[in-house]
Amino acid sequence: MQYSHESWLDFLARCDQAFRPFAPIDLPDFFKGRREDVELLRSELRTPGRQVAIFGERGVGKTSLALLAYFFAGFQDEATHLVRCQKDSTYDSIFGQLLVAAGEGFLPDVLERNSGREGALAVGPVSASAGKRMRSVQRAVPASGRIGPALLLRQFGQREGLLIIDEYDRIQDTTTHTRLAETLKHFSDDASKTKIIVCGVAETLTDLVGEHQSLTRSLAQIKLDRMKNEELDEIVSTGEHRASVTFQHTVRRKIIALSDGFPFYTHLLCKYSAEEAGKVLQTDPGAKVVVAEPEYDKALQRAIRIGEATLRDAYQGAVITVKRKTEMYKHVLWAVSYAQSQEVQVQEIAENVAMLTGTKPRIESLSSYLGRLVSPAKQGILVRVRQGYYRFANPLMRSYIRMILEQHNIELEGQLQFPWMRGID
Ligand SMILES: Nc1ncnc2c1ncn2[C@@H]1O[C@H](COP(=O)(O)OP(=O)(O)O)[C@@H](O)[C@H]1O
Ligand SMILES: [Mg+2]
Repeated sequence: MQYSHESWLDFLARCDQAFRPFAPIDLPDFFKGRREDVELLRSELRTPGRQVAIFGERGVGKTSLALLAYFFAGFQDEATHLVRCQKDSTYDSIFGQLLVAAGEGFLPDVLERNSGREGALAVGPVSASAGKRMRSVQRAVPASGRIGPALLLRQFGQREGLLIIDEYDRIQDTTTHTRLAETLKHFSDDASKTKIIVCGVAETLTDLVGEHQSLTRSLAQIKLDRMKNEELDEIVSTGEHRASVTFQHTVRRKIIALSDGFPFYTHLLCKYSAEEAGKVLQTDPGAKVVVAEPEYDKALQRAIRIGEATLRDAYQGAVITVKRKTEMYKHVLWAVSYAQSQEVQVQEIAENVAMLTGTKPRIESLSSYLGRLVSPAKQGILVRVRQGYYRFANPLMRSYIRMILEQHNIELEGQLQFPWMRGID
């Protein structure tokens, strides 16, 4: 019995390594696909005078790519430093933390004062190899001068390294934008050997760093799209190999289809279903671990319940009604997630509601539900893109609700046909 327990724990440990929905990839072997982006990143980092911006939707893999940039471009892991921005981060706090992470022992007075406050340095600088967190905050060295391009170039210009500024989209301070733009330009003009990588959720470069005309020459743009199904499939295969688990063909295809291009969902569903299937090891340590429909169903339930709290809470908050009981909010959201395009027209939403519930809503009535779902009272779960078109505010929401639909369909014993599941058998 002791032995079976060990075999089960060992399996869980391997699953944790193979499927990691809640952490970026930090080992090259587990970074899949993205060959063109990697090649572009490599060549830009090897080109003197170029810094890099990595942007795209939430959850597509920006941090993972940035964390492995050192590996792809042949820099030293030890010379890679990452700072994760907070809402109240400023130019000084960002570069102050990077200087500390690089062992420069520099912390301007403002930061020194703030660092005692809860959270001010909570997500401090971490080196690319996780675990090497900053140990002690060193005292300010006012003699080193004001943080700015000149000081930074003095510290970093002559040695190879990477400074990663992650979640830069959170920055609200416009002075920080201006000063960062100025610094990027100086690093480029001086052909600094240490390169800066700015990462964040954004549609365009301007969304991320603000409007600065001079930047196009010094800042390379890497826009990460969602991953292709073939790439998500590689994640499953690598995980199967690492964890010694096999996904039945149909289940594997369903997981990929539901992922909607987000590696987060592939990792999440693979992890939960593999852990479910691995339970066989508790009684039979030598068993072959196979994920089939029952494990997949369990994984869906678990992903809906605990997968990602922000999505669950936004969904629950939007569908629950207090005064008048109605399922309409829920059905409207289902109808939006059922559509093939991300921006869905009211007419199509009405048809999808009809298809899912058997009753077609009147357009005026539907519009008033949509109006509510756009409002803060309903978590702003939908966004009105233009007259008559809606999409989810959080792009990850569509898969979340598709998992709920999939679950609903399991209860209906598969009566519904989902367009995203077409051709998976
Ligand atoms: N190329 C990749 N191969 C395998 N898994 C990936 C890849 N890129 C991202 N992931 C996984 O996807 C999820 C989101 O990645 P992350 O880098 O945190 O995205 P972002 O920074 O864009 O929000 C994480 O679970 C991460 O492990
Ligand atoms: Mg990230």
